[in-house]
Amino acid sequence: MLTPIKTICCLGAGYVGGPTMAMIAAKCPHLQVTVADYNPQRIAAWNSDELPVYEPGLKEIVASVIGKNLFFTTEIREAIRTADLIFVCVGTPTKSYGIGAGRAADLRYIESAARLIAEVAEGNKIIVEKSTIPVKTATAIQSILEANSMHGATFQVLSNPEFLAEGTAVEDMESPDRILIGGQSDPAGLAAVKKLSDIYAAWIPRERIITTNLWSSELSKLVANAFLAQRISSINSISALCEATGADVDEVGRAIGMDSRIGKKFLKASVGFGGSCFQKDILNLVYLCEAFHLPEVAEYWRQVVHINDWQKSRFVEKIVRTLFNTVNGKRIAVFGFAFKKDTNDTRESAAIHVCRNLLLEHAKLAIYDPRVDEEAILTDLQGAGVPQELLETHVHICTDPYQAVEGAHALATLTEWDEFRSMDFARIFDLMLKPAFVFDGRAVLPAEELKAHGFDVFSIGKGI
Ligand code: NAD
Ligand code: UDX
Repeated sequence: MLTPIKTICCLGAGYVGGPTMAMIAAKCPHLQVTVADYNPQRIAAWNSDELPVYEPGLKEIVASVIGKNLFFTTEIREAIRTADLIFVCVGTPTKSYGIGAGRAADLRYIESAARLIAEVAEGNKIIVEKSTIPVKTATAIQSILEANSMHGATFQVLSNPEFLAEGTAVEDMESPDRILIGGQSDPAGLAAVKKLSDIYAAWIPRERIITTNLWSSELSKLVANAFLAQRISSINSISALCEATGADVDEVGRAIGMDSRIGKKFLKASVGFGGSCFQKDILNLVYLCEAFHLPEVAEYWRQVVHINDWQKSRFVEKIVRTLFNTVNGKRIAVFGFAFKKDTNDTRESAAIHVCRNLLLEHAKLAIYDPRVDEEAILTDLQGAGVPQELLETHVHICTDPYQAVEGAHALATLTEWDEFRSMDFARIFDLMLKPAFVFDGRAVLPAEELKAHGFDVFSIGKGI
């Protein structure tokens, strides 16, 4: 008889750790779930009314379980000690130094989490990698745990990558396409896989919970993100051809997406994909291929990132060229800074690149995003290398979109927030300088309506 899991802890209270554990707590009232992080501000925010992560529906879920069977704490050691099963959900950013800089995953948070678990743990523990990591990381975690176990604990390491997307995290967790669990095929490994599967089976049909060996599970996560990002780069490459030929990328996307072998999702052309995962995970895949002496495979996937970078730069060039080859001193209203709608996350947002390059051309930016605050925008632009002086004199963060367009030469849409689709465009036209240019980097604005108001409109992937 397997002893069922009663207590869970999660190391890392970020965009994945917080929401996934809230969902498990809500679906499994018999489990005690503790999310531990050494960042006291983050933990305080999870324990407040202002959650550190904005996701539609998340606040309600957290409110329904917090203090009952969901707890957020900085007492990491205690959380590890009392847990039967430990999710590791710490960041795995791209390494910025040393060997593999700019491509490899930086595994220092994973390693320090494993060392801490080894130091504190007693009895039998199941360790679940939820962070996205390079294939074979489970072996490294297992060796660290075994070599450093201070209290004779035994460990089973599982891989359980997370596939939620930001902005739709709640529905993705509520009804995932699949739950993937990788583990060892010996009896202890199979028992651990069964215990984790049983947790998810509380609300997810068994046929959607799939099990594989550890390495397939680890690799599948990188490959899923690489395939998704590849679709976006593919359609974005075609967006340029559409603009050159008079075709319409949305029509092309619809036509090819109706082929059931291609499918209709992830064919929306954009100013470029962003987010904390796609670029990082592809670069990680590229690095792995290089490490396994597969340069052709590495080069193939590198192109997905290359096209994405090109798409962002091309958008800026289009703006500069259209505004009579200079944006120096011109006010450009920027609608949207998050990397996609329905999130406050700006990591790797295309808006950072576009705004940075426009600022380096000495444009004056009036930026409006319904969920991203001023501090986050300024920190991102500073991190992207915008000189402090330009930040102070050329960036104005607005809390109202109409304020942003006042006296602007151009409006650039960089995030597809729903509210942008149905604004008072007559009022916007009146507020802007003429000719009033619109650069729709998401092709979400009603172009014909805008033209009727008198705007000069460029939409990504739309020929004249
Ligand atoms: P994040 O940066 O939002 O959160 C990570 C948290 O881990 C931070 O709060 C940090 O303080 C904490 N942390 C680091 N070391 C710790 C330790 N030893 N003990 C306790 N806490 C520690 O990152 P995220 O977006 O939640 O991503 C986490 C992982 O999940 C990454 O590997 C990422 O690739 C993967 N992932 C992310 C998404 C997403 O949409 N963001 C989706 C799927 C998978
Ligand atoms: C992604 C994966 O979808 C998810 O499965 C994984 O767990 C984490 O990485 P996320 O980055 O949160 O999720 O959002 P996603 O919806 O994939 O969008 C990523 C970027 O691609 C955004 O900038 C989005 O605007 C862009 N995108 C998406 C497009 O430009 N076109 C599309 O058709 C779809």
